[in-house]
Amino acid sequence: MALGVIAALVIALLSSTAALADGPWPNDPQGPQARSISELYWIMFAAAVVVLAIVDGAIIYSGIKFRERPGHVAQQFHGQNLLELTWTVIPTLMVVSFSVLSWQKLDFINNTRGDAQMTIQAQGQQWTWSFSYPQEDRFRLKDGKTYLTGSEELHIPVNTKVRIELSSKDVIHSFWVPSIGGKKDAVPGRATDLWIEADKPGTYKGQCLEFCGDGHADMLITLVAHPANEYAAWVDTAKADLERVSSPETAAGRELFRSLACAGCHTLKPLTSGKFPGAPELTHVASKQSIAGGVLAPVNQENLTRWLSNPPGVKPGTQMPNLGLSQEQIHDLVQFLLTQK
Ligand code: CUA
Repeated sequence: MALGVIAALVIALLSSTAALADGPWPNDPQGPQARSISELYWIMFAAAVVVLAIVDGAIIYSGIKFRERPGHVAQQFHGQNLLELTWTVIPTLMVVSFSVLSWQKLDFINNTRGDAQMTIQAQGQQWTWSFSYPQEDRFRLKDGKTYLTGSEELHIPVNTKVRIELSSKDVIHSFWVPSIGGKKDAVPGRATDLWIEADKPGTYKGQCLEFCGDGHADMLITLVAHPANEYAAWVDTAKADLERVSSPETAAGRELFRSLACAGCHTLKPLTSGKFPGAPELTHVASKQSIAGGVLAPVNQENLTRWLSNPPGVKPGTQMPNLGLSQEQIHDLVQFLLTQK
C-alpha cells in the first residue's frame, strides 16, 4: 500500500518534470544571463538541501535518542555555547556569501550599457508587446522613413547581446523570457531596460509577469533567435510583409479590415492574428487559388466582391456572416486584399 503511494508520487513527479521541460522554465538556461541566474539558483538550492538534511537529521536523531521511555527520563539541556555559536555563525556566513554572490551576478545581469550590440524597443500594452527595431539602414522600409516594427514575436540574431528598452502605454507589464534571462517591469512614464542573449537558434516562450488585467495570461512573447547568417534574410522578409500590409494606397481597406469584424477572426500577418479557429488565414490571400473554401476561384476583384457582399448567399451555412457592408466598404476591402500576395 505505502509502496504503491510512493510509486505513484514518483511517477507524478517525473511526468510533471517532463512537462515542465518544454515550458517557460528558468532552469533551462539558453543564454549567458539565464545561465548566471540558474547557477545562483542551484547553489542556493544545494545549500538549502544540506541545511534541511542537517537540521531535520538533528531533530529526528535527538527525538529518538533523548525521548522519554520506560526506564529512561527525557534529558534536559540548557546552554550549549559551542552549538549555539555554530548555528549562528554558519547561517550568517551563508547569508553573507549569498548576498555577495547575488551582488556580483546582479552587476552582470543589470549591465545593459556599453557592450550591447543592438537595441530594440519593446512597448507593452493591454495585452500585447510591440517591438521597434533599430533605426539603421538594414531595418528601413522602402519609403525611406519608416523602420521595421512587429508585435508578439521578437526576432534577434544568436550570440548577440541585445538591449531591450521597455515602455508601457497603459499599466505595468513585465517582460520575461525565462530561458534567456531575468525579467523587468515596463512602467508607464518610466524608462527601464534589460538585455537578452541566446546561445542557440530557436524559439523561446515568454510571458508578461505582472498582472495587467483580463488578458494578462495571454500576453505572451515569442522570442525567435536566428542563426547570425540568416538574420538579414529574416529582416528582408519581415520588411516585405510589413510593406505589404502598410501601403498608403490601401489604407482605407486596411483600416476597415482592422476595425470591422474581420480582424477578430482572420489572421493576416503581420497586421492581425485572428482568434476564430475556422477562419482561413488571409496573409497571402491574393496568391491563393480560391476563396470561400474553394467555392470561388480565382481570387480576383469580382469573386472577392461577390463573397463580401453576401457570404451565406454564396455558400449557405458558412460561418462568415453577412456584415451588411456598403459598396464603398467592399471596394476598399477588396483593393486591400488584392495586394496581399
Ligand atoms: Cu501585461 Cu500582464
